[in-house]
Amino acid sequence: MSAYREDDAAQKTTSSVPVLDLRGVTKTFGGLRAVSDVTFSVPERSIFGLIGPNGAGKTTLFNLITGVYKADSGSIRFRTTDLGPLKPAQIARVGVARTFQNIRLFGQLTVLENVLIACEHKRKAHLLSALLRTELFYRDEEEMKNRALELLAIFDLDKMADEVSTSLSYGNQRRLEIARAMMLDPKLLLLDEPAAGMNYGEAEGLKTQIRWLRDRFELTVVLVEHNMQVVMGVCEDLHVLDHGETIAHGPPELVRKHPKVLAAYLGEDADEALDAEAEAAAHAGQGAEEGDSAAPETTELT
Ligand SMILES: Nc1ncnc2c1ncn2[C@@H]1O[C@H](COP(=O)(O)OP(=O)(O)OP(=O)(O)O)[C@@H](O)[C@H]1O
Ligand SMILES: [Mg+2]
Repeated sequence: MSAYREDDAAQKTTSSVPVLDLRGVTKTFGGLRAVSDVTFSVPERSIFGLIGPNGAGKTTLFNLITGVYKADSGSIRFRTTDLGPLKPAQIARVGVARTFQNIRLFGQLTVLENVLIACEHKRKAHLLSALLRTELFYRDEEEMKNRALELLAIFDLDKMADEVSTSLSYGNQRRLEIARAMMLDPKLLLLDEPAAGMNYGEAEGLKTQIRWLRDRFELTVVLVEHNMQVVMGVCEDLHVLDHGETIAHGPPELVRKHPKVLAAYLGEDADEALDAEAEAAAHAGQGAEEGDSAAPETTELT
């Protein structure tokens, strides 16, 4: 992490073609409009927040972007590629990776194996060289292992590489899922509630790690999250859904004051909760250590 500098990010330019572009996307389940006419664009190398109360349609949107569901109408583009006709594996190959709201790890495998398994399809491409144990096979293996260890180091998981994944804390399992998604070398990373179950210190660490990933791998990140400490601290732009419909869009400092957003969450209390959170963060400073039990609780607007 020491290589990271905040000003590195500012020096790089971004493309004007959005990495992700949704136009009028609608999805119904039976009589329920889970996603209703949603339109937004995510600029290259931005960290974009998709927020809203429970059942707002956030995970459904991720499932639409990644091809798990097909939209009833509207279009979803990744740069110039129409994702509509593509299958999930094809969408992963063009550069879209995700994590899941419910952790999906292989409990019987080690931390390192859980990360390496993301590359199984790449290994199959070299089936013959794997069978013959050629030099290419070993080089391939070595490269994947190095990348896996680099990613684990970003999340401070490298020392636990040989432990079974179930022995990890909930927060570490969430970060292991991100490391695994990064093995696919994505250009767009969709994170579904990565801070769920994390304490204050872990959530602070996650903010730094997301920024680091964006800068190191020139990524674009879409973050679904209820933890406002993370959302307000890391997102440059927010899109807010409620009952499948867009209720607000813009920079965090404006969205948090939006009357519809306040009403959709906790009414007037939401703004007070956010203020309390910002104050707590200011007092905690940047020295909050992971797992710091003295740190304040995080604010979740659900
Ligand atoms: N496969 C499905 N079949 C039927 N209804 C579904 C399906 N998937 C989602 N829904 C419904 O669509 C709506 C949106 O669900 P979704 O999971 O997208 O919400 P969410 O914003 O991710 O909520 P949360 O913050 O609780 O994760 C909900 O009413 C949900 O019950
Ligand atoms: Mg969800």
